[in-house]
Amino acid sequence: SCNKLKIRAYVNFALIKYWGKKDEGLKLPYQTSLSFTVDKLYTETEVIYDKNLYQDIVIINGKKDEKMGNRVAKHMDVIRREYNINSYAHIISENFVPTGAGLASSASAFAALAYAATKTYGLELSKTELSRLARIGSGSASRSIYGDFVIWNHGDDKTSVSKPLDAKWDDFRVIVCMIDENEKECSSSDAMKKSVMNEELYSNWVLESQKDLSEMLQAIENKDIEHVGVIAEKNAEHMHALIEATGTKYKTEKTLEVISKVKALREKGIKAFYTMDAGPNVKIITIESEVAEIKKNLLNIQMIVCKAGFDAHEV
Ligand code: DP6
Repeated sequence: SCNKLKIRAYVNFALIKYWGKKDEGLKLPYQTSLSFTVDKLYTETEVIYDKNLYQDIVIINGKKDEKMGNRVAKHMDVIRREYNINSYAHIISENFVPTGAGLASSASAFAALAYAATKTYGLELSKTELSRLARIGSGSASRSIYGDFVIWNHGDDKTSVSKPLDAKWDDFRVIVCMIDENEKECSSSDAMKKSVMNEELYSNWVLESQKDLSEMLQAIENKDIEHVGVIAEKNAEHMHALIEATGTKYKTEKTLEVISKVKALREKGIKAFYTMDAGPNVKIITIESEVAEIKKNLLNIQMIVCKAGFDAHEV
C-alpha cells in the first residue's frame, strides 16, 4: 500500500442547484440537484501515505493553504476512520483553472481526494461509494466522480449519491465567463445555513427547485436548449434571491453587466442563458452553433468554452 498515483477530477456546474443541508456532517442535501461536468477545469491530486508523519501535510498549487489544508485533513480523518487506514499522508493537489479567477472548486478537489486517498491505499471503491465519500468532503463533489450530465440524489447517507444521466448531447456547451473582482466571499456552507434558517423562503425554494428538476430532465432528454436555459436561469435566480434575502450577495457590478449582455443576446435570437454559483462568475449555457456569436458580442470578457468532461480518472 505505497502506490504512487495521481487522480484527476473535473469541475461541475449545477443547472439545478444544491443549496442547503439537512445534515451538516454527512452533507445530505434537502434536494436532488443536476449538473454538467466540464472538460477544461479540473484538479489533480496525489496522496502519499507516510508512517513517519504525525499529521497530514497539504500542498495546494505548490503552497500550504491553512484553511483548505484543515478541511482536507478533516476529510482524510473520515476516510481513515471508515477504511481503517492508520497513516497520515502528504496530499499534493493542483487546480488546473486560470489563476486568480475564483474558479478553484471544492467539487473537483474533494472528488479527486476521495478517489486518490482510497486508491493509493489499494482500495477499489465503486463509483457509487466514491460519490458518497466525495460528498462527505463537499456536497457538490459527489457529482464530480462522473463526467457529462449528472444527477445527485437527496436521501440518506447510503442513497444520496450521484448517477450519470447518459444524455448524449454532444453540442451542449457551458462558457465560463471570468469575473474576478477579488471580493471577499461568504463560504457557500455559511450562506447555505442562513438560507435554511429562513423556513418559509427555504421550503418554497426546495419545492420549486424540485419542479424545476423534473422539467429539466425532460428538456435535456429533448435536447431543447431554450427550455434547459430558461429553467437553469430561473433556478439560479431563485437561489440568488434566497441568498440575497438572507444577507449574502455574490453578484458584483461586472456580474450584472454580463447577465444583462446575455439577456440582450437573447433579444437578438441567440440561444444564450446563464447560471451562477456562490461567487461572481457567470456561466453561459448554450450550444456549439451559438458560441462564435456569443464570443463576438462579449469581447471584453475572458471566457473558457467547455464541453462535457469525463469521469474522475487516474492520470
Ligand atoms: C452554489 O458543494 O461547495 O455551487 O457541501 O458545503 O462543501 P459544501 O458546499 P458546496 O456547494 C455548492 C453550491 C453551489 C450549487 C451546486 O453546486 O449545486
